[in-house]
Amino acid sequence: ARHSPGPSAVTPSLLTLSLSSRSVNNFLMTGPKAYLIYSSSVAAGAQSGIEECKFQFAWDRWNCPERALQLSSHGGLRSANRETAFVHAISSAGVMYTLTRNCSLGDFDNCGCDDSRNGQLGGQGWLWGGCSDNVGFGEAISKQFVDALETGQDARAAMNLHNNEAGRKAVKGTMKRTCKCHGVSGSCTTQTCWLQLPEFREVGTYLKERYHKALKVDLLQGAGNSAASRGAIAETFSSISKKELVHLEDSPDYCLENKTLGLLGTEGRECLKRGKALSKWEKRSCRRLCGDCGLAVEERRAEMVSSCNCKFHWCCAVRCEQCRKRVTKYFCVRKEKRERSGGGGASRKLKRKL
Ligand SMILES: *[C@@H]1O[C@H](CO)[C@@H](O)[C@H](O)[C@H]1NC(C)=O
Ligand SMILES: *[C@@H]1O[C@H](CO)[C@@H](O)[C@H](O)[C@H]1NC(C)=O
Repeated sequence: ARHSPGPSAVTPSLLTLSLSSRSVNNFLMTGPKAYLIYSSSVAAGAQSGIEECKFQFAWDRWNCPERALQLSSHGGLRSANRETAFVHAISSAGVMYTLTRNCSLGDFDNCGCDDSRNGQLGGQGWLWGGCSDNVGFGEAISKQFVDALETGQDARAAMNLHNNEAGRKAVKGTMKRTCKCHGVSGSCTTQTCWLQLPEFREVGTYLKERYHKALKVDLLQGAGNSAASRGAIAETFSSISKKELVHLEDSPDYCLENKTLGLLGTEGRECLKRGKALSKWEKRSCRRLCGDCGLAVEERRAEMVSSCNCKFHWCCAVRCEQCRKRVTKYFCVRKEKRERSGGGGASRKLKRKL
């Protein structure tokens, strides 16, 4: 047990893990000093996981609110739904990704390229060569940090560990093979290839797809803490592919505000309507966030001022004009509020608010 940063004294959530490297350092006081060198990298990785979560869910009813990132059994409230699964996977992927990238950049003395397969035949016409990103290193170290946050032995803990692993598998599975040609004047008779990390965005997009296909496991009923039920939990999870995201509970209704669960509901959220560059998912956001949640869409116009028609004057100044652009934005509002805005004091109040 001396070899892992065991969280015997404190069990920080991934959020605190990401907030400051000091809290990670505190966490590590219980572990060997050797792990201190990774703490800033772990914190940066957890942070990038959270940012990616916010990006991927920007136009979803659930939009990765801070509250959801408190993953430890804080206040006895620990959800185990599809969204919890995503948060674990993306955070664990972020930590592994950043550790691996730091390693490739030479930030750690004890790690470098993965050249373990160099010289071996990789496939038809190509050999392993060059500097592959050392995901093995990132995987091992991130496992030590992130999985250590899970102290229980119940179904929830098993679910979280499974999704942490799915996050790490996502990093490995999205790596890209990059090759260089060799041979007379670039004839490419042989190639050497290595594996590179993709952009982290790609890992996020991949995990979002997995999120939509997440599997529900029925383990909460009558699951005690006996050896028998622990065995049943282990058996169930080992039969599921490590790539899959897994959850135990259904998600609550994210349309509605629920203070107990820390949910804000979709009232007041912005959505997107027109625009050439919008994806299908974005184009349907007003329907998903407002209409299907029993809310109306309200159009609000605003003026934006920005620099434009910039000209270069000899020599050496750039002068710009101030352009005003009208922008239209859309927001979800309660239906009765809109209807009432026809007359009376309510409308004036509403206008001022807008
Ligand atoms: C690892 O990279 C992150 C940003 O990508 C950086 O903030 C952090 O300081 C790096 N860690 C080390 C030990 O260099
Ligand atoms: C909030 O969620 C809890 C748990 O799902 C539920 O029991 C409760 O009725 C909800 N409250 C409201 C106001 O919807």
